[in-house]
This record gives sequence, C-alpha cells and structure tokens, in this order.
Amino acid sequence: MRRTMLLFLALTGLVLLFQGIGATVPTDAAAEIPADEEPRKYVALTFDDGPKRPTTEKLLDGLRERGASATFFLIGEQIEENRDLVLRMAREGHQIGNHTWSHQRLDNTEAGTVAWEICKTETALTELLGNGDYWLRPPYGQPAADGENGINVPMVKWSVDPRDWESRDAEKVTRAILECAEPNSIILLHDIYASSVDAALNVVDVLQEEGYWFVTVKELLELNGVTPQPGTMYRTGTG
Ligand code: NI
Repeated sequence: MRRTMLLFLALTGLVLLFQGIGATVPTDAAAEIPADEEPRKYVALTFDDGPKRPTTEKLLDGLRERGASATFFLIGEQIEENRDLVLRMAREGHQIGNHTWSHQRLDNTEAGTVAWEICKTETALTELLGNGDYWLRPPYGQPAADGENGINVPMVKWSVDPRDWESRDAEKVTRAILECAEPNSIILLHDIYASSVDAALNVVDVLQEEGYWFVTVKELLELNGVTPQPGTMYRTGTG
C-alpha cells in the first residue's frame, strides 16, 4: 500500500514536472509573436556623385558589415577608373543608377546634350555590368525642362535631404537624417565625402536598432506594391 502510494506520488510529480516544462514553452514562444507581427520598416539610402576612392570603398565595407543595401547614382566619367568598385556594388546587391556623364544639369540643357549625357553613362554601365535597368537621378533632382521626354527609365528623387555637401559634418548630417527619416523614406547622400559615409553608417546602426531594414530604391517600391514606370519620378517608397 505504501509502495503504491509512493508510486502515485512519483507519477504525480512527473506529471507536474512535464506540465511545468510544457508551460514554459508557449510562454517563450508567445513573447516572440508580437515582434514577428509588427510590420517591417524599410528605408532606402541613396548616394550620388561617386564612385570615389577611398570614400566609396569605406562605405561599401560598412554596408557589407551591417547587411545593408543602398542605391548608387554614378557619374559616368568616374566609372572607368573605379571599375572594381562598381563591380563590387553590383556583386554585393546594391542598385546602380545613372547620374549623367559629367553631372550636367538637365533642366536648362538642350535635348541632344541631355540624351548624350544619359546614354553615354548607360553604355558605360552596360559594358561593365551587362544589360540592366539603370534608373536615373537627374543632377539637382531636376528633370529636363521639356518634361521627362526621352527618359525610358524610372527617375528617383528623395524625401530626406540632410544637405551633407554643405555642412560636411557627420554628426550634423546624422542628426538631420534621424529627425526626418520614417518608413519608406528615400535619403539623399553623397559618397564622395568622408563625413557623409560616417553619417550613413551611424544612421544604419541607429535605425537598424529601431527595426529598420535598408533596401534599394527598387526593392522599396516593390515592397510597397509600386510598379516603377519609365519617365516617372519617385520620391518615397510609396511613390
Ligand atoms: Ni549630384
């Protein structure tokens, strides 16, 4: 009788023990569910006027370390001497776009020159990277005056401009971006300044901590269900 009682107690103990273990599993799992259900926040960093050694190289290193993607709008005449950097951008999943051959303003320039500036850069990119869809960022964000004629790719402006070329101060630029950045922002920077590279990497660190993912402009639009149209200017991930 005593033996049966002991056996009963032992079994009850085991059942309670398993219930205890069982109880901890769903609690832990439940704690993770809200984080998974929270919609992901995406943002796009864009860099104009490069490539330029060594700032672009430092930026690529920093982005790779952080698993962040970006979009580079290249000046055509700087491609040849930086072929390795451009190939690296493509290899590491960044989007590569056109910023004209010689940083020519398009809004007060005759149509022939506009076409030449864009086409020559596109040819250089195609020779190096193969056929692709090389989106355009017109210098100063200004498309050609006669509308968007002859532009057969999507164009990209921005929603956050920290004026990095003016202050050349990494801390100021970081602050200016963090004040304005929100989900689907397109951020304008220039990878030809060391201060801008530092600011960009600071911003990635802070916003990743806040749950942001850094994607290319093309990815940002796709994530929002936007189908990019040739000749249309996009300022944020939603249009
Ligand atoms: Ni520019």
